Amino acid sequence: MVIDGKTKTCGLIGNPVEHTMSPLIHNTLAEKMGINLVYVPFLVTEEVETAIKGASLLHLHGLNVTVPHKSAVIPALAEIDPLAEKIGAVNTLVSTEGGFKGYNTDMTGLYRAMASYGISLEGEEVILLGAGGAARAVAFLCGFYGVKKVYLCNRSVEKGKLVAKEVNVGLEKELVIPLGLEEYTKIPDGKYLCIQATSVGLAPKDTEVVISDPAFYEKVHTGFDLIYRPANTRFMQLVKAHGGKAYHGLKMLLYQGVEAFELWNQVKVSEKYALEVYEKMKGAMGIEE
Ligand code: ATR
Repeated sequence: MVIDGKTKTCGLIGNPVEHTMSPLIHNTLAEKMGINLVYVPFLVTEEVETAIKGASLLHLHGLNVTVPHKSAVIPALAEIDPLAEKIGAVNTLVSTEGGFKGYNTDMTGLYRAMASYGISLEGEEVILLGAGGAARAVAFLCGFYGVKKVYLCNRSVEKGKLVAKEVNVGLEKELVIPLGLEEYTKIPDGKYLCIQATSVGLAPKDTEVVISDPAFYEKVHTGFDLIYRPANTRFMQLVKAHGGKAYHGLKMLLYQGVEAFELWNQVKVSEKYALEVYEKMKGAMGIEE
């Protein structure tokens, strides 16, 4: 690629940033779509609000935000998208005349990843595992996209109750029902979409799973694990062993990037290009499926 006086700069701020796959996503899309844009990682260890101000003064075109800054950047924004505001975390900043506008494409990316597998949320009842930042965001996403009920199972029931209350108050409906991990037996009989949003099963502890009881998996028609390292988590294996379909979270990572790229450049990325990027991501990860 040729970098010249008109090249737009986008990047990622976080700590750490050296293992990110985002440069691969955005630089590949820029090249494929003939957009004069470069994407680089920026390590930000402190004073994230000052960093955002600096980015604005440098007229950076757009930013992604990762751990640990996804909530800390919010006070530095000029504007925030309603879903991101409810969640209280942003991962994408788009430059506007008044400063940056924040979005949460982690969640819209998850929605799009699920849609690409034919999974819909509208009218569904969902089992959600976890009550951390990721699970909380998924609960809001469910509320935004017409899920009827979310059974939230978490090790710490108190934390689950807190998240349920926050989401139900935020969405002004009784969406989330908090349960302990063994209390899944209280979930009415039926087959559910189950979203695995805990950190359990993440490499290198990839033999771990949050619920191992086979009876639980009888309730699951589709399992979506937000984890993508490994690409076939214990959770996914158990879902499949009981006849369900199971997916890992790498497409969520793909589409959070695609959605950010679209917001920055006011373009629509074709599915063909998205899948070509996905092939590169799988290659970089050594994943086949
Ligand atoms: P994130 O922000 O990425 O969601 P987090 O806030 O640390 O991460 O949340 C981690 C989630 O994984 C929580 O739901 C946590 O359960 P607790 O709320 O009971 O801590 C869950 N988790 C982590 N280790 C676990 C384990 N060994 N067994 C069951 N759940 C676990």
